[in-house]
Amino acid sequence: MKLKKAIIPAAGLGTRFLPITKAVPKPMLSVLDKPTIQYIAEELDSIGIEDIVIVVSPDSDVIERHFGRNERLEQRLIADNKTELIEIEKATRKFNVQFVTQHVPNGLAGAILCAEPYVGDQPFALLLGDELLYAEAGQKPCMKRLAEIFEDTGKSVIATMEVFGDDLSKYGNIGIESEVDGVMQVNAIKEKPSVNEALSNNAIIGRYVMSGKVMGMLKDLKPKGNELYFTDALDRLAENGELLATCFEGERYDVGDKLGYIKANVEIALKSEEIGTDVAEYVKELSKRLK
Ligand code: G1P
Repeated sequence: MKLKKAIIPAAGLGTRFLPITKAVPKPMLSVLDKPTIQYIAEELDSIGIEDIVIVVSPDSDVIERHFGRNERLEQRLIADNKTELIEIEKATRKFNVQFVTQHVPNGLAGAILCAEPYVGDQPFALLLGDELLYAEAGQKPCMKRLAEIFEDTGKSVIATMEVFGDDLSKYGNIGIESEVDGVMQVNAIKEKPSVNEALSNNAIIGRYVMSGKVMGMLKDLKPKGNELYFTDALDRLAENGELLATCFEGERYDVGDKLGYIKANVEIALKSEEIGTDVAEYVKELSKRLK
């Protein structure tokens, strides 16, 4: 079945980034000159998905404005014949985005369920808002790899990366039954295990393609405390042999973390056609001063 919908849960309050996140929603934090949420939406270009549901916290209307029209700006850019900037502006409104507000934070599954009116029982791509995935020319984008595996098998599929030592406890972790051509059959899930409890060195990153039955499974989840755990649904899929996993090509930036956010800014600036060479000069010069 062809994948047509995507959900981006982006309702976190971003308290790790206070004070900027007091008035600016975390998904609008900029890496170089683009908000993180736009990078994530653009990961869907590789699979031709334009229908996106973004789950936001209250007071996030600036995200809606970013993906909508600003006629005064458009007219000004046209009047000044700023061709390049016109294209940059247009790229922000090429998606068909629905916004839903998650009023009460009740876990990742709770956030995904907010998108249910737009997704129903269709399969969906799921992209968590704290990570950016970057594929160089010649590398297969992560979302493309996941979508291909889903379309070949009809099974839900998650992206993983190898992680060692204490870092294992920062991520969901998978048990691997078998592996053929880089596609792993997952037989168990453990959310944020200690090093001793880990089932493998494969951590779950925030990129998933879920089959049409998953939304129904989320509706049946029992809350633990106030939260509905997405991992519980993944665990059910794994038990039934309906969950696959794969590694991805390219870089992953954890922009939910201050160091990861700085790394994303430096590395994406280094790739920039406009300022990359100057940034490289600066980084070399700076590194000499740091010795
Ligand atoms: C979530 C998932 C976890 C996954 C992680 C990836 O955790 O629950 O399985 O490894 O994203 O970033 P969170 O970081 O939201 O606590």
